[in-house]
Amino acid sequence: MSSGPDESGRGQLASFRRLLTPAGQALLAGLAPYEPGQALQAAEAARRRGYDGALVSAALTQSRLRARAHAKLGEQAARLYFTPDGLEQATRAVVAARRAQRFAPFGVRRLVDLCCGIAGDLAHLAGAAEHAVGVDRDPLTCAVAEANLAVLGLADRVQVRRGEVEDLSLDGVDAVFVDPARRSSRGRLFRPESSSPPYSFVLDLAARVPATAAKLAPGIPHELLPPGAEAEWMSVDGDVLECALWFGPLATAQRRATLLPTGDTLVGDGSTPVPVGPVGRYLYEPDGAVIRAGLVADVAAGIGGRLLDATIAYVSADRAAATPFATGYEVLDVLPFGLKRLRTLLRERHVGRLTVKKRGTAVEPETLRRQLRLSGPNEATIVLTRVAGHQKVLLVAPLA
Ligand SMILES: C[S@@+](CC[C@H](N)C(=O)[O-])C[C@H]1O[C@@H](n2cnc3c(N)ncnc32)[C@H](O)[C@@H]1O
Repeated sequence: MSSGPDESGRGQLASFRRLLTPAGQALLAGLAPYEPGQALQAAEAARRRGYDGALVSAALTQSRLRARAHAKLGEQAARLYFTPDGLEQATRAVVAARRAQRFAPFGVRRLVDLCCGIAGDLAHLAGAAEHAVGVDRDPLTCAVAEANLAVLGLADRVQVRRGEVEDLSLDGVDAVFVDPARRSSRGRLFRPESSSPPYSFVLDLAARVPATAAKLAPGIPHELLPPGAEAEWMSVDGDVLECALWFGPLATAQRRATLLPTGDTLVGDGSTPVPVGPVGRYLYEPDGAVIRAGLVADVAAGIGGRLLDATIAYVSADRAAATPFATGYEVLDVLPFGLKRLRTLLRERHVGRLTVKKRGTAVEPETLRRQLRLSGPNEATIVLTRVAGHQKVLLVAPLA
């Protein structure tokens, strides 16, 4: 059994519950959209209207967190409830929706979301099962999750239970999702086995309920991935957010890179051979999800390209090819790396604004920009990388 909340936890829970009463709802509804510079005035105005300090503080916290949550959860963030940690750890709506879609074809009757947090995933998983249960050890987080499910009209189909996931019986459960906490009060936890619950618990789960999925950090070392499971790296607008593990019937590939919001998805097993060769007329920079999944060679094969260096994720090709999995550039010039030469080239082209991309070099873009003393009305993009073991600078232009 999990222990109950401490005194400050009990106070926060009580304030949150008061926020759900008609008085709390009226206060929250009457607050203007959150503006950092206006918080003090808003608090004073609410107190003048007769609301007590604890309720006002709880309402302002929600208002601030709702504003912050917009980027992750879109318009509906304005109706939902958060804790600072819960928001920080919540899965983005577009990722949670994609995950839930993958459960949907399995006709799941009873699904359990272990470590449901504020229900970022659970709210979407609810649509993929007849009945869903979320479990979390933190009482305030459970109350927030319940409130969110009620706001979303899901309360009749989804239950939230407080408890330790290690103590939970999974009898009668036909699908499980687990998103272990990767931070503690002391900060981020980098080792998979340090997460709560630990990685070994995740792996054991799959033996108990075959249709198990888990959310892991995108940096999970490939050698820790269990054989037979699918690892899916997901990026949103180019930012790699997580590695989802799919076990049993849910696994449909060995490795996958999924780019959101488009949903373009690339599968492979990391064994595609790829030639290494010289710089061609075009350069392609694979999406981070492709790189993390180890599928750069598959992208290169798809566009008839080659790597510039066996260990660096830049692909070059002689013909322009459309691929959703990489950003393409036309190569305008290639020169050996040297400050003087680069400065001359950029001066000749009157470049005042420079985008620096780099892989396989220790050069710091900011330092380089300072050293180049750029001036002029034009913009340019350079790529610093190794070609056949030598440091090179590629002057490139993004393909339209
Ligand atoms: C990463 S968050 C989950 C976020 C959630 N998927 C979402 O999108 O909102 C992990 C949650 O696991 C809970 N937790 C950590 N260890 C736990 C355990 N042993 N038993 C139950 N809950 C646990 C934490 O309280 C935290 O809310």
